[in-house]
Order: sequence, then C-alpha cells, then structure tokens
Amino acid sequence: MAELTVLISKDRIQERVAELGREISRDYPDGPLYLIGILKGSFMFLADLSRAISTPCRVEFMGISSYGRSTRSSGEVKVTKDLDVSVEGHHVLVVEDIIDSGITLTYLLNVLEQRKPKSLGIVTMLDKPERRQRPVQPAYVGFEVPDEFVVGYGLDFAEEYRNLRDVCVLHDGPEPK
Ligand code: IMP
Ligand code: MG
Repeated sequence: MAELTVLISKDRIQERVAELGREISRDYPDGPLYLIGILKGSFMFLADLSRAISTPCRVEFMGISSYGRSTRSSGEVKVTKDLDVSVEGHHVLVVEDIIDSGITLTYLLNVLEQRKPKSLGIVTMLDKPERRQRPVQPAYVGFEVPDEFVVGYGLDFAEEYRNLRDVCVLHDGPEPK
C-alpha cells in the first residue's frame, strides 16, 4: 500500500510562495506579466503565487502531456491545450509544479520562444536537479527536492493526491514502467 510522509509542510510552502511573490514583483515592476500555468500540476502553486505578486498579471494555461499513469517520463511531449492569446511583446513566466528531466520544459520553451515574448522565464515550485537530462535553468525555484516521487500541492500520482496541502513523498508506489 502507498504511504505518504510530509517532505515540505504547508507552512513552509506558504512562506516560500510569499518570498517568491515578492521577488517576482520586484523583478517585474511593470505589467502585464503573463503567468502561464502548466496543467494540471501547477494549479495550486499558480493560485497562491499569483496572489503573492503585486505586478498586474494575466493568468493563462497550457496543457502538456508527459507522464500518463507512470512515475517516469516517457520522453514524449505534446501540447494538449495551447494558449488562447498572443504573448508577443509581453513578459512571460512559465509556472511549473516540478522540473525533473527537463524534457517537458525544453520542448515548451522552444514553442513559446517562437511566439516572440519580450522575456521568457520559469518559476517552478520544486526542482529535482539530480534527474536533469536537458539543461533547463529556472529563474525561480521554491525548493530543491531529492530524487523521490512526490505528490500533493498540485502534484499527482495517477490523478490522486493533488489536493494535499503539503508536499509528500509517496513510498511503495508501483515501480517505473
Ligand atoms: P520532466 O519533463 O521530466 O521535467 O517532467 C516534468 C513533469 O513530470 C512535471 O511537470 C510533473 O507533472 C511530472 N513529475 C515529475 N516528477 C514528479 C514527481 O515526483 N511527482 C509528480 N509528478 C512529477
Ligand atoms: Mg506538470
């Protein structure tokens, strides 16, 4: 049976989100700042982060297929939901739940570069730098985490656990396929 242990408590998350919000507000004094949440994992982080940013923001979403029901990336990426608006000439921050191999974001950044934003950055709640296969440099990182499968605060395993307030390690999950 799956077992959960708290890795990052909800209080630490909220403190860090407030700090990130202050940094981002300082670095982007002029709006509009486009926050592009990557579905579905970033929804909770985006909701909290956007409220911690004082710069005028616009919230958009993109869908990218990655893991399916397995805990390891298939290496295949595709856009399943595209932006509804043009971001040309605007500051864009991609909001991610976690960067693992970096495959998803490498692909996504290429797609977004072609839309000619004024600037393009990444803010990720969690980073697993040990697992990187592609060089992705997030401008803002909430927490670095070890090479463990984590759930909660938006992150899922097979669509479960997204609603947990803490980030937890999922033990005894199925082995990678
Ligand atoms: P990457 O392309 O390997 O960087 O994959 C990033 C995506 O994989 C994230 O946006 C998550 O949706 C998912 N992912 C990576 N590691 C974890 C994890 O530990 N728990 C839950 N989802 C994860
Ligand atoms: Mg994701």
